[in-house]
Amino acid sequence: MIGLLDRLARPLLHALDPEDAHRLAINMLRFAPLPRAPADDKRLATRAFGINFPNPVGIAPGFDKHGEAPDALLRVGFGFVEIGTVTPLPQPGNPRPRLFRLDADGGVINRLGFNSEGAAAVLARLAVRNSGGGIVGLNIGANKDTPDRILDYVGLIERFAPVASYVTINISSPNTPGLRNMQQAAVLDDLLARVIDARERVAQRSGPTPVLLKIAPDLSLPDLDDVVGIARSRRVDGMIVGNTTITRPASLRDTVTAKEAGGLSGRPLLTLANRMLAETYVRVEGVFPLVGVGGIDSGATALAKIHAGAALIQVYSGLVFRGLGLLAEIKKALVAAIERDQMDDLREYVGADAAAVTAEPWPQ
Ligand SMILES: Cc1cc2nc3c(=O)[nH]c(=O)nc-3n(C[C@H](O)[C@H](O)[C@H](O)COP(=O)(O)O)c2cc1C
Repeated sequence: MIGLLDRLARPLLHALDPEDAHRLAINMLRFAPLPRAPADDKRLATRAFGINFPNPVGIAPGFDKHGEAPDALLRVGFGFVEIGTVTPLPQPGNPRPRLFRLDADGGVINRLGFNSEGAAAVLARLAVRNSGGGIVGLNIGANKDTPDRILDYVGLIERFAPVASYVTINISSPNTPGLRNMQQAAVLDDLLARVIDARERVAQRSGPTPVLLKIAPDLSLPDLDDVVGIARSRRVDGMIVGNTTITRPASLRDTVTAKEAGGLSGRPLLTLANRMLAETYVRVEGVFPLVGVGGIDSGATALAKIHAGAALIQVYSGLVFRGLGLLAEIKKALVAAIERDQMDDLREYVGADAAAVTAEPWPQ
């Protein structure tokens, strides 16, 4: 049934302007009664940051930025949903067009620039959410014109920690000028100290909320050393590797669209994202788990992401090209691997190839 809906919907969605297609997809999820996915194979269950995930495949932030459809996304079988990025105050983002498909490459370029309905609107939605449980994390960012970026993050932690399963600090979007500078050591240390402090204050009332840090795949390795060192010393609960890239791999075929400014995602990001994930994995030394995201568009690429170091994975651009069938394909491939290797679960796969990936030539 989902497959059929998917096959009918995808050609239609691809005929539309990408942003209109995205709006239609969200509305279809909200208002079309999609059937519930079958229960997950128990061997896909995993535990990370104190949370039990029914399966390790989440939907990445940017798809449901305003928290309109988390329950529908859980219902169709995602193991977790990350909504956002949400900014404190509403803001429109960059002028359209700001979202581009690279059809020949299976890639997407976006320069949305944190279009957000703002914290109050999203908080109201989460508060009345028809919760049958389910893991709904929240990705937070600073307003473009804020006088104090760190205060934006601290305020959002205070407001959302009680209602979110986890909170992700996003300092890696390439589309808010200067935002990625917050990955610099001194700024990051201050940011994480104050964010974790805010989390501890809120925890006294509403329990612990894991705090994750989402980084760019474009960090240099010395910068990654600093970032991981600070994340460890400030005791974040995990890291997400990573966001879109401002680089343009030499292999891109749609060279005209590739010139659009913004962050590149999808298949052309896979090799770089896996490399940065593996580099992060070897630096973290098992102190906290990693979420791997970037370029997953098949069962095989999902498994490669786990081998490179991901305890959990997220998808976005792959869904644009493959539809929701991708989710079922990934879960099937993971179960097939477990059966083939006679494993109990996915744990032994996590990071199994990390050292080998870091020894490859740097992705071009
Ligand atoms: C249209 C679009 C919007 C995005 N918006 C956000 C966002 O608001 N916050 C964020 O942390 N990441 C955002 N991302 C990045 C994704 O969460 C993900 O890190 C990236 O796309 C790589 O995964 P993929 O190759 O599976 O798409 C966005 C990506 C796309 C394509």
